[in-house]
Amino acid sequence: MENCTLRPARESDLPQLLTLEETCFETDRLSRRSFLHWFKTTRRLFVVAERESELLGYGLVILYNGTRLARLYSIAVRTDIRRKGIGRALLVHLEELAAAKGRLAMRLEVNRINHPAIALYESSGYRIFGLYHDYYENHNDALRMQKRIRFPAAGFANTPVPWYRQTTQFTCGAAAMMMAMAGLDRTLKLTQDMELDIWRGATTIFMTSGHGGSHPLGLALEAHRRGFHVEVFMNRRDVLFVEGVRTAHKKEIMAVVEDQFRRKAADAGIPVHYEDVTVRLIETWLKQGLAVLVLVSTYRMNGDKTPHWVTVTAIDDQCLYVHDSDAEDDQGELDCRDIPIARADFAKMSVYGSRRLRVAVVLGNPS
Ligand SMILES: CC(C)(COP(=O)(O)OP(=O)(O)OC[C@H]1O[C@@H](n2cnc3c(N)ncnc32)[C@H](O)[C@@H]1OP(=O)(O)O)[C@@H](O)C(=O)NCCC(=O)NCCS
Repeated sequence: MENCTLRPARESDLPQLLTLEETCFETDRLSRRSFLHWFKTTRRLFVVAERESELLGYGLVILYNGTRLARLYSIAVRTDIRRKGIGRALLVHLEELAAAKGRLAMRLEVNRINHPAIALYESSGYRIFGLYHDYYENHNDALRMQKRIRFPAAGFANTPVPWYRQTTQFTCGAAAMMMAMAGLDRTLKLTQDMELDIWRGATTIFMTSGHGGSHPLGLALEAHRRGFHVEVFMNRRDVLFVEGVRTAHKKEIMAVVEDQFRRKAADAGIPVHYEDVTVRLIETWLKQGLAVLVLVSTYRMNGDKTPHWVTVTAIDDQCLYVHDSDAEDDQGELDCRDIPIARADFAKMSVYGSRRLRVAVVLGNPS
């Protein structure tokens, strides 16, 4: 990078910031008033690049209350010193600062015809996830882009857990179980054959309006059958997921299946603990080298209240990390592995339905 230093912005930078704004942007410039506002508030990260008292560029990130997101509000580099790495250095620095403040992802909007900025963001790992029509003063559209900025801290993470993409809408439980097993047994080959086989053994037959999903005891039986030590933790003793189906017939079938699972689990000697699943417990299990899958509600991920199994892969002082097997068509492994969930948010996510079900399946290597 061009020789310069990065430091927090201060009010004495205002004249040079206004000049930068004037020369770098044709529309939607930040005004003097706006800059003064951003100096005063603490809910932001405001950094400048400087060389010999000359401002070469700046970046401003907003930290909204009540979300785990940071938003890149503005970034600019002096016109005569572009393509020398200053823009990227500002961006990287802001991402690091935001991650240190507990933010999990950085979002931004960029004019869809601003090719230099889009190139910077794309080459820095940002992905387009939406569009705002008629967003700028000149009526241009804005692309919405996002990048994950929080990853498991070295030293806290367990050994990497392989990721697997589920091949049907209803086999997340089987896929989560396969990832957990593969984290313990590196020789395990994760195949669709295994996925469907586990689902057939673990299915509740019906769930919400579609096929059955995986029952925790069914998953535990499948792991047991494959030679793993397995225990189940759940906070309810009644028929699981039954409140999600409408007809009496479906409810009856699910009750029979529940009964089968409980009998089979008892026969197999699988310990079932009727207690809450907490972050503390999960941390203890991971530190013992155990593999953990938990049920979450997708409500906080995509607005749907669907029960969904994920595999916990790591934990650190701020976040739990999970592998999610349910990748959208345009998503790859990197989007779906080690997804951070802030510790404080986990309790709200790892609960399903009006009966507030919390459940975890915990696996260990055979003793
Ligand atoms: C966007 C901006 C901040 C980039 O600053 P910069 O210091 O020139 O960026 P860098 O030198 O760090 O470039 C990093 C990468 O971005 C991409 N990039 C930057 N400018 C580019 C251009 N004109 N054409 C193609 N790619 C470009 C390249 O991938 C580049 O890496 P490379 O030089 O190794 O190929 C700068 O162009 C700018 O101030 N633009 C006007 C303000 C603006 O539009 N801000 C963004 C608002 S959303």
